[in-house]
Amino acid sequence: MTEPTTTTEITTTTITAPHQEPQRIRGLEMPWNRVLGSTEGPASAARALGPWHPQEFLAECVEVVPEVGGMLTFVFRRLDGAPLAFRPGQYVNIAFPVNGEGGEPMDRSYSLSSSPTKPWTFDITVKRDPAGRVSPWVHENVGPGTVLEMLGPVGAFHLPDVDRRARYLLLAAGSGITPIMSMLRTIHSLPGQADVVVLYHGAVPGGFAFHQELGYIATVDSRVTVHYSLGDRSAPEDWEGLTGRLSTAMLDEVAPDANGRQVYACGPEGYLNSVSEMLAAVGVDDTSIHMEFFSGDRETTLEYRAEVALAEELAEGIAEEIADSAEDYYDSQPSALGMYEPAYDDEGPLEATGLPLEAADPDFAEPGPVDSEVQAADTAPETEETAEPSAPDVSAFDTVGTGTLTLSFVRTGINVLINPEEKILGVAKQAGVRIGANCQEGMCGSCKVVKLSGDIEMNHQGGIRSREIEAGKFLPCCSTALTDMVIDA
Ligand code: FES
Repeated sequence: MTEPTTTTEITTTTITAPHQEPQRIRGLEMPWNRVLGSTEGPASAARALGPWHPQEFLAECVEVVPEVGGMLTFVFRRLDGAPLAFRPGQYVNIAFPVNGEGGEPMDRSYSLSSSPTKPWTFDITVKRDPAGRVSPWVHENVGPGTVLEMLGPVGAFHLPDVDRRARYLLLAAGSGITPIMSMLRTIHSLPGQADVVVLYHGAVPGGFAFHQELGYIATVDSRVTVHYSLGDRSAPEDWEGLTGRLSTAMLDEVAPDANGRQVYACGPEGYLNSVSEMLAAVGVDDTSIHMEFFSGDRETTLEYRAEVALAEELAEGIAEEIADSAEDYYDSQPSALGMYEPAYDDEGPLEATGLPLEAADPDFAEPGPVDSEVQAADTAPETEETAEPSAPDVSAFDTVGTGTLTLSFVRTGINVLINPEEKILGVAKQAGVRIGANCQEGMCGSCKVVKLSGDIEMNHQGGIRSREIEAGKFLPCCSTALTDMVIDA
């Protein structure tokens, strides 16, 4: 018997798409910012993760990837199956059982080198220091299946959640590339307008970790430029990068507009000292410079210890809060279908936090808000007036509210009468002054604004650095007014 045959006629059509210039959303927005700003719906459940809250957790190594320069990347996942929420640039503190079972573990902090936009696994990249006690142990003993106790995320060295003028100069030397890599991978993985210059110093031509990926990102992402420099001048003939230590001429070459960028720098102490000097010499304002020492003097070690101690304290509080809210949450669920009842967010301990991004966009409504950090960077002259700008005349502004103190919001053009115990962010919100905010607890730094005059009491939890406070910035979410105030918002 013969099978019947069928004939199919195939025709082809060519579709020509009209040429379109790529359109990008303004600035750079971390994905969790929108989740946190939403007020209802399933995405609200993501708040339970508390992205900026350090937690103590167990993590299992799932992969080890060799890097050049004597480094290994260890890929981990949380043992509880949750994603790890962190900001690009932050680190985790890990207890390594170098002294065996029953012995005292040794704690070390390692920057996360992966991007938080792929939070189901996370990476640390460890350079082997033959003289060290921990890194050789890590290289020899940590592999797939190893479970370690971790605390994190920790650290104020990270990209902002929203940056409407995302222009960065990322400076790294040696292993200082690890947090910078996290920042770059994050920017590359997100849409948005950004302009990133990376300058990476290394000692030998073959010692630049991640160079293949850096090359790839720079090739496919027009927002990113990567430069390499060999720290000494003995470069081989075929070396195509820069040579020499960081200098003002080198900065001018790679980023002539350095003083309009936010600068993130990580590396050894000597390198960062010269970074500070060179940036000052090319006119970069101090408050636009963010630095992380990956090895350092006693002061740095103490600073790390203080950060980790604070993270431990917060982790305990957060663990209790999450346990309580989970209890309330399940108690209040009439059925599986009611899983994402908005009431949970309205009444539960993890109440809605943050404004939607629209509320933080200057084009969204008039009068617009101010990104104080960028504003301060752009307008900061190199004189003493920068730290204490003179307050404008606020007597012509409309005045609302009742209370004994006056808060004047100069950009919005409004005076608000308040009582001294009221949090300034709450007052601003009620008066329609838009200030982007997330944690509302003084941790994330997203609400930072400039105080033009007046005194405040601020109880922050690491969301602001002392040099920013010296430059006149403060966190309105955790501050109350002690006197009349004029605020740049
Ligand atoms: S909202 Fe996070 S520090 Fe103010």
